[in-house]
Amino acid sequence: MNDAPIGVFDSGVGGLTVAHAIRQRLPHEALIYVGDTARVPYGPKSPDTVRRYAQEIADWLVGQGVKLVVVACNTATAHALDTLRATLRVPVIGVIEPGARAAVAADHDGHIGVIGTTGTVASGAYERAIRALAPSVTVTARACPLFVPLVEEGWLDGDVTEAVARRYLQPLVDDHVDAVVLGCTHYPLLKPVLARTLGPAVILIDSAEETARETERVLEARALAAAPRPGPRLRVVVTDAPAAFLRQAERFLGEPLDGVETLALA
Ligand code: DGL
Repeated sequence: MNDAPIGVFDSGVGGLTVAHAIRQRLPHEALIYVGDTARVPYGPKSPDTVRRYAQEIADWLVGQGVKLVVVACNTATAHALDTLRATLRVPVIGVIEPGARAAVAADHDGHIGVIGTTGTVASGAYERAIRALAPSVTVTARACPLFVPLVEEGWLDGDVTEAVARRYLQPLVDDHVDAVVLGCTHYPLLKPVLARTLGPAVILIDSAEETARETERVLEARALAAAPRPGPRLRVVVTDAPAAFLRQAERFLGEPLDGVETLALA
């Protein structure tokens, strides 16, 4: 048994969808969540910059005594997972391998779509992870950079969001994908629009659930699970603008937050 917290981080508020899934699945675990609101978005930034940001936050979390780090951001997973695994002394879980696993399990016709930020799609990380599991699967990947600001703005529906979705997703519709990985923390909030645009036959894959399952597996395999106890703490830390974060947090976390701390990074 190990009662140390799990560290979870993202470029901003979106990774709270992963924190939510972990809290649902592992209710005895304490969590420290860091949202890098000072430097969001990671999606358009270079791999080196995202790696540097991710390393800083992960090092801070390890300094706080976390027993495991979950990289809840797809872009940070795409660019920094290998480096973090090589440098941190605690296990590190990303969202891409779990998302790829869930997609391969759901796929019937051997054609999977992936949508994500420009950085995630350019990295090819999802294609590699999917092909490692199912080499014959065809992958159509599409960057959808405008989805993040639309979600941040709360435009989860309506003409503009529908039009943007149609424009981004048409190649996936034309390619007759049968499952689509929501390869970005923000996209699960757009599920109704995405489902309408892609059609009822297409399965939407949200990696948060599978990432929570992977977290459970790693905790058990390494004897790191916490002892059962009531109401473990969720500590939330941001690098800027806590009030704006707090206003958005409930939509992603599914529960209200008591408060947010601010951390100044270099
Ligand atoms: N968290 C990012 C991701 O999942 C989306 C927001 C950003 O671009 O920073 O890729």
